[in-house]
Amino acid sequence: MKHDVVEKNVGLMMILIVVAISFGALVELVPLFFDKQTNEPIAGLKPHTALQLEGRDIYIREGCTVCHSQMIRPLRAETERYGHYSVAGEHVYEHPFLWGSKRTGPDLARVGARYSDDWHRAHLYNPRDVVPESNMPSFPWLFDNEIDGTKTGRKMAGLRMVGVPYTDEDIAGAEAAVSGKKEIDAVVAYLQQLGLLIKAKR
Ligand code: HEC
Repeated sequence: MKHDVVEKNVGLMMILIVVAISFGALVELVPLFFDKQTNEPIAGLKPHTALQLEGRDIYIREGCTVCHSQMIRPLRAETERYGHYSVAGEHVYEHPFLWGSKRTGPDLARVGARYSDDWHRAHLYNPRDVVPESNMPSFPWLFDNEIDGTKTGRKMAGLRMVGVPYTDEDIAGAEAAVSGKKEIDAVVAYLQQLGLLIKAKR
């Protein structure tokens, strides 16, 4: 019997088990790659500007993702608090995406334009100055550090290779666009555009 061959050969059985399980994953995942809803940008979506892109990288570097998700789930309690639930098409230019699931602080998927730039600056300098009960850490060094723009263009070129529609001009002008700016300017620019495209329609 052919089945005996499989049952008496652990290596072969493991390979066949992996193949069998992979089918389940493939059936779930592969259609998503071809579904417009999950891979086409929503109307009006633009790639991050050079300054926003640097802000996003600082956001990752400082571990903001450790306490903040960027994904509003389609549940009443979430949409009442944060606004329209997140859709895949908002995130197609993000590599890597920062959805997350750990929320020590609030979700930030639609925090753009909720506060003024000054509020964000004060909050990041020392959260307790504007939210007395806050346990978010302070990030005062963002106000001192200048952005190193020498790699900004190359980051954009890399993102273009994976489908983010940056133009040659975007890439050529990237260093000039961020030169002389402080890290705080970049982080605030990044925060202020989060989730606006859908929120604006509400
Ligand atoms: C240790 C966890 C922690 C980290 C790390 C953290 N935060 Fe927070 N954040 C919080 C908490 C808790 C709150 C709610 C209290 C407050 O508003 O300060 C908050 C609130 C916020 C808010 C206001 C959100 C709203 O809707 O009111 C923004 C914006 C924000 N954080 C941005 C950031 C950024 C940018 C970083 C990284 C530079 C960061 N946070 C890092 C915990 C954190």
